[in-house]
Amino acid sequence: MPLALIVHGGAGAIAPHRFEAAKAGCAAAASTGWEILRRGGSALEAVIAAVVALEDDPTFNAGTGAVLTKDGHAELDAGIMDGATMGVGAVAGVQRIKNPILLARHVLATPQVLLLGEGAEELAAARGMPFVDPQHFVNAYRRAPSQPMPDEQAGSLRAEGKHGTVGAVALDAEGHIVAAASTGGVANKPRGRVGDTPIAGAGFYAEDGVGGVSCTGQGEAFIRMAVARRACEALERGAEAQAAADDVIARLGARIQGEGGLIIIDAAGRVGFARNTPAMSYAYCLGDMTAPIAGI
Ligand code: GLY
Repeated sequence: MPLALIVHGGAGAIAPHRFEAAKAGCAAAASTGWEILRRGGSALEAVIAAVVALEDDPTFNAGTGAVLTKDGHAELDAGIMDGATMGVGAVAGVQRIKNPILLARHVLATPQVLLLGEGAEELAAARGMPFVDPQHFVNAYRRAPSQPMPDEQAGSLRAEGKHGTVGAVALDAEGHIVAAASTGGVANKPRGRVGDTPIAGAGFYAEDGVGGVSCTGQGEAFIRMAVARRACEALERGAEAQAAADDVIARLGARIQGEGGLIIIDAAGRVGFARNTPAMSYAYCLGDMTAPIAGI
């Protein structure tokens, strides 16, 4: 089975002075995951490692670089789906976990699919995960070059600033497909707001023999259109990865004026990516490539 891996660093109006950092961050994350796949590692390991790299890079709106709520704290969401088992693990609204995707992976190993806030953090404690002070995210945000958006721009991906999410999809040598996403949500969001990122079928989806998808954009629109599952339905109808990505993002805009983008891998190992926003950072590796192709 051909190997494939693709990551994204969020869709929106990325400021030109942030292009290089966003591309470099995506390339580094893709390289990390690709090395794992090339050494015979699983899609699950590769996707987790790539998303951790993106969460640890303050360039992106996830993990350490997450945007803040209206009252000034981080509430982080993440989700992962294993296409081999169709298992899902997701967390929403966690405030003390540096890498929410690692906690989502623990949820994947439980009978539950989605844990919220304190309940999710109880699982983290039970699994011996380290906790960070919530101020970790506030400090990182204050140091970041982008500033909070005015209220009326929160959720708009045309306004310059940090938005979107990060994500990764991989296909391994066994033919297993895994997709994941992680985010701080939208800047200035009200407490308790949850977008598509921890919702399987909306923000991410994976199914062996079909494909895997990770989304970025206005979470409410991606939930309403079940975008990740919809893209896999396009694959099931015979579309290749790029056609499926183009079709679903076009429908998102045409049907409900939703904004964002997605990355996708089909069962044959073809990658696709599409956006209807001014920019979306991404990087991918295929076949015998030794270094990723990255772009905005
Ligand atoms: N797509 C990220 C969010 O809306 O929370």
